[in-house]
Amino acid sequence: MRKPPIRAAITAVSHYVPDDVLSNSDLEKMVDTNDEWIRTRTGITERRILKNGGTSDLAAPAVRKLLDQRGIGPDEIDVILVCTVTPDMFFPPTACILQEKLKLKNAWGFDLSAACSGFLYGLVVGAQFIESGTHKKVLVVGADKMSSITDYTDRNTCILFGDAAGAVLLEPSAEYETGLLDHVMYCDGSGGEFLYMKGGGSLNPATHETVDKKYHYIFQDGKAVFKVAVVGMADVSAEIMERNNLTGDDVDWLVPHQANLRIISACADRMNLDMSKVMLNIDRYGNTTAATIPMCLSEWWLSGQLKKDQNLVLSAFGAGYTWGAVYIKWSMNNAK
Ligand code: COA
Repeated sequence: MRKPPIRAAITAVSHYVPDDVLSNSDLEKMVDTNDEWIRTRTGITERRILKNGGTSDLAAPAVRKLLDQRGIGPDEIDVILVCTVTPDMFFPPTACILQEKLKLKNAWGFDLSAACSGFLYGLVVGAQFIESGTHKKVLVVGADKMSSITDYTDRNTCILFGDAAGAVLLEPSAEYETGLLDHVMYCDGSGGEFLYMKGGGSLNPATHETVDKKYHYIFQDGKAVFKVAVVGMADVSAEIMERNNLTGDDVDWLVPHQANLRIISACADRMNLDMSKVMLNIDRYGNTTAATIPMCLSEWWLSGQLKKDQNLVLSAFGAGYTWGAVYIKWSMNNAK
C-alpha cells in the first residue's frame, strides 16, 4: 500500500444526466437492431442524450450540485480537471469554459484525455495535488457528450453510448486510514487501431473528405476490444486486491466502468464478488465514457447504499488502450 504524507479523499460527489431518453425501441427505428440483442449483448436498455449544448453543459450542473453539497463557494476550488474525449472545442480547455460558467475564479485547470479510463486517470492525477500538499480542493469531473461523435447509422456503436457527467471533490483526508489508498494504471498504444476517432485532429484535420468518410465518428472493432477489455479489467482488479491483501469478502463494492455487462460480470467473477456488490447503472445510461464511475459513486452514495469506511475497487478499461484500478476506503459520512 502507498503511504503518501497526506491522503486524498473524496469529500463530495455528484452527477448530472440530461432529460432526453434514447431507448432500445427508439434505436430499433433507426438501425437494424432489436431490444433483445442489445440487452443480452450489452446490458443496456436506454441512454440519455443532450440535445443542445456541449460537454461543459453536462459538467456545470454536476459541479453546481457538488458545491452545494459540500457547502463551499466557487472561489474555493484550487484545480479543475475535466476528463473527456468530447471537449466543447479543441481549445480552450473545457476546464476553462467550466471555470467561466461557474466562476471558479481562484482555480487553474486543464482537460485530460484517457477515454473510458479518463476518470480514473483524473482521480490519480488529482490526488497528486493533494498528496504533495500543494493544493487543498481539486475538482475531478468525468463528462462526455458521446452523442456528438456517434454515428447513428452504425448499429455496432450507436447502441452503446450516452451523455452524462459525474464529479468529485478531492481534499486532504481527515483520517489517514480513509481515502485513495492505492492505484494501478496502465496504457498500451498497440491497442489504438481498435478503438479511435480518426478525424478532426492534426493528422486528419476536417475536410469534406473526412466528413464523407465518417472519420469524425467513433470507430470500434467491438470483438477485438471486448477480448482485451475482459482480461484487462479483471487482471487489474485482481492485481490491486493482491497488492492490498484484499479478498472478495473485504471488498464492499466494485465500481466498474460501464461498457458492457458481460465484461463487468467477468471482472466480478475474477474478484470472487457476488453481483450484488457491483455498482451497475449501464441499463439506464449506457456507456458514458469518463462519466460512468463518478455517476455510480454519486447514485450509490445518494441512495444511502455507499457508506463510510466501505472498501471500493474502481476499475476501468478504454481506448488507447488505457486501463487501471483504484482502491478507496470511502470517507464521506452516510447520506442516509
Ligand atoms: N443489433 C443487432 N445485431 C448486431 C448489432 C446490433 N446493434 N451490432 C452488431 N450486430 C451483429 C454483428 O453484425 C454480428 O453479426 P454477424 O455475426 O452476422 O457478423 C453479430 O451481431 C455479433 O457481433 P459481435 O461484434 O460479435 O457482437 P459482440 O457479442 O462482440 O457484441 C459489442 C458487440 C460491441 C457489444 C461488444 O463487442 C463489446 O462490448 N465490445 C467492447 C466494448 C468496450 O468495452 N469498449 C471499451 C471501452 S469503451
